[in-house]
Amino acid sequence: MENNKFESQFEAKLANNDVIEPKDWMPENYRKHLIRQISQHAHSEIVGMLPEGNWITRAPSLRSKVVLLAKVQDEGGHGLYLYTAAETLGVSRDELLDNLLTGKAKYSSIFNYPTLTWADMGAVGWLVDGAAIMNQVMLQRTSYGPYSRAMIRICKEESFHQRQGYEIMTRMAFGTPEQKAMAQDALNRWWFPSMMMFGPPDAESPNSENALKWRIKRETNDQLRQKFVNQTVPQAEYLGLTMPDPNIKWNEAKKGYDYSDPDWTEFKNVISGNGPCNKERLAARNKAHNDGAWVREAANAFAKKRKEVYEAA
Ligand code: 3HC
Repeated sequence: MENNKFESQFEAKLANNDVIEPKDWMPENYRKHLIRQISQHAHSEIVGMLPEGNWITRAPSLRSKVVLLAKVQDEGGHGLYLYTAAETLGVSRDELLDNLLTGKAKYSSIFNYPTLTWADMGAVGWLVDGAAIMNQVMLQRTSYGPYSRAMIRICKEESFHQRQGYEIMTRMAFGTPEQKAMAQDALNRWWFPSMMMFGPPDAESPNSENALKWRIKRETNDQLRQKFVNQTVPQAEYLGLTMPDPNIKWNEAKKGYDYSDPDWTEFKNVISGNGPCNKERLAARNKAHNDGAWVREAANAFAKKRKEVYEAA
């Protein structure tokens, strides 16, 4: 009987568009769903620092180096907000990091592709952060309070990331013919992997039904993907670049572009660990974690000593 009372209070809060806070009663599966999604989101932010970090030392100017450095630092902060939001659900940071480092947990497929030229920094900011924003603006209205508040903070910074990328693409698309060719090559390589960021088609999304029922997601994978295509095609046209999908065509009836699906077999391969850079990314994260062990040990030793001093005072 007790549970039913709490259950109906939970349902009423959702129906009323209220946010669920850490101390509120929640169904165990709602809590588990959130831990899965928020922690994988956090892992994506942290692993997402690697492809761009790869170009900080090779940025073509001091300004572009400083801007890229700021962006990569932001991603680290986004990971911090999201791990902290996940911890409010009763899971430890160590457990979450262990899931990432052992390959148990997922992170966004997009970060398993190599960044081959400077134009990739433009395509990543424009397309990857553009897709991330499309998703994260929606997640600002998610039903779990700490996740929603993290999204509001992250979206403010993410818009700068997208503009930073689009500025690089603009400089190159209106630059020399060689620079324009690099921008086109980057668009060709990053377009379909960016489309995969929204998840599999709705019909093949095992988590979406609950996510929508619990108002964790407010729009479906396909709805957000369509919004992303509608926003990006005119931006590519402005740059004078050709979309790498001959099926992209305006469909007046649906007030949106028709487009080709990404290669879902490739998607399944990448998210099961067999993408171009999965092994490299996990090795880099494990190395960073091991190299940073002394910092954690020093911080824990300091905290322990300080606690002893306070308790003895
Ligand atoms: N990469 C890796 N795994 C993916 C994926 C992707 N692009 N899309 C889906 N998946 C996984 C899901 O995690 C799920 O596996 P799981 O059950 O083992 O976790 C499975 O594929 C089926 O997908 P579903 O659609 O059923 O799963 P969700 O309902 O969770 O939807 C999602 C997937 C849209 C990615 C959703 O989890 C989500 O919105 N997550 C939060 C946003 C996020 O993680 N964005 C990642 C990018 S962050 C980023 O880009 C940083 C920016 O600063 C650059």
